[in-house]
Formats: sequence, C-alpha cells, structure tokens
Amino acid sequence: MLGCLAPHPPHVVYAENPEQNEAFSEGGWETLRWGYNRLARKLKTIDYDAMVIFTPHWQTYIGTHFLGLPEFKSKSVDPVFPNIFRFNYDISVDVDLAEKMCEVAGDSGIITKMMRNPDFRIDYGTITSCHMLNPEWDKPLVTISSNRNAHYYSPEVMNEQAGALGKACAKAIEESGKKVVLISSHSLSHRHFVTESPLPEDMSREHIYNHSQYVWDMKLVDLMREGKMREVIDIMPEFTEQTIAETEAGGLTWMMAAMGYPDYPAEIYGYQSVIGTGNLIAAWDPMETTREIVL
Ligand SMILES: [Fe+2]
Repeated sequence: MLGCLAPHPPHVVYAENPEQNEAFSEGGWETLRWGYNRLARKLKTIDYDAMVIFTPHWQTYIGTHFLGLPEFKSKSVDPVFPNIFRFNYDISVDVDLAEKMCEVAGDSGIITKMMRNPDFRIDYGTITSCHMLNPEWDKPLVTISSNRNAHYYSPEVMNEQAGALGKACAKAIEESGKKVVLISSHSLSHRHFVTESPLPEDMSREHIYNHSQYVWDMKLVDLMREGKMREVIDIMPEFTEQTIAETEAGGLTWMMAAMGYPDYPAEIYGYQSVIGTGNLIAAWDPMETTREIVL
C-alpha cells in the first residue's frame, strides 16, 4: 500500500493539454507538473491493482459513499474555473473493492452507501489527481466521498472519524488481497486569490499569497521529511483551522490511518502555489528498497 498526497488544482491538467480537456493553455505551474510526472513514472514501476482516492469535492452529509458502478462516463466542468477545465472522462471502478470497503466500514459502525446512479458526475478533484498520477487511466478506481464532519462538528471530530474510516479501509484492502495506491486529493494551505489574471497560466502573476500560510506548509513538509506523521495528524485540526485547508475533508488523516501513521520519511516531489494555495506532492513508500530522497 503506497500513499500519495496529490493536490487537484484543475490548472495542472489545463497546463498539460491532454486530449480530454477542451481548454487550451500555453503551459504553467511546471514545478508541480514535473513533480507529478516523476511520481507518475514511479507508479509505472509498481505492480498494483487499483487506485483508492478520497476526494473533498464529493461531499456527503449523511455517511461516506463509494462509487458503485463499473464505468462512469461524462464531462466534468469545474464550477469555479469552467474556462480552464471541461474534461471528458471515462473511468472504470473496482466495484468489488469498493463494496468490500463499504461493508467493512459499515461493520465498524460508520454510515456508508454505494453510489449506483449512472448519471452521477465525477468531481474534478478525483479527475485531476488521477489524471496527473496516471494519465493513461489504465487502473480502476475506488472513489470515496468526504463526509463533512468538520462542518457539522469540528476538525477534531473530523480527525477521529477519518481515522476510523482509514482503519476500516485498510482492513478491507487486506482482506481483498489486492495491492493499491492510496490517494489523498487536496492542497495544504488554501487561502487564495480573489481575482484571476487575464491569462491563467501567466506565471509572472503566480506567487505565495500569505507568509504565515507558507510557514505552516513548510512546517508540515519538515515533519513529513522527518517521518513524523503521527504528529502531523495530531496538529491537523489546528493546521486546518489556521490555513482554511482542504484537510478539513479528512483525506490526509484517512490515508495516514490506513497506512498505520508512517514513521519513515515521505518522498517530496514538489511544492508550488496555484492561485495562492499551497500545493505539495508527496508519497509514502513503505518499501525501504524503493523509497527515495526525491527533493
Ligand atoms: Fe479543491
């Protein structure tokens, strides 16, 4: 089980100009894209059966939901950036693994549901992270919704619930006998610009927006490099509140709990601002023989 922190600004897909996206760009955000390209090359060298992704842009308010049909095909339009992201997707789902996770999580007391609506539109977080990690789209996905505990209760409750979900998913994966890549799809600090530059990919306009947010992000990167993931998860509620981060959805906590809170160094693939938000690409490789110091 290898884990990836994979931010999903649609800008990186826009900048890559894949045939599925209708918009055309002149590039941009290379530091992030080159980091993604390198991690995608590493994943090509690994034998695995499915990608399991937790996304903050499929928000559910009663329980945790799992995609539950073998194929979803449609167009995903980013609600905030329709000018840069209109992506024609055709994804396959590992329904057996999704059902297993739904069942094991349900048995552990978590409210769960399978999504069986063929017209359900896949969120741009799932599409962006999965496209950047596997542009060939040759692995089935399991997509997990984010139950909004932080909205209902507090980031502390979110942390507890996401941890319980992570443990249940790990048990389901183990029982299935499958090898998976886990993906936590989100940025770190999330304070962003309120106006867009005339040309989105104009890199002369891209910069860190707020020094305090940047310092928080670097604190997390340092802890990740040191292999202190338990500490990262312990401070997650405070980090989330201070940086209005997408970690409020529980993705990183879910992934770290599933991986047993790694105490080995994370691989760091890149950090860059996108409209002022802090985006880090990192991976946790449990195999010491293939784990690298990337950056
Ligand atoms: Fe997002």
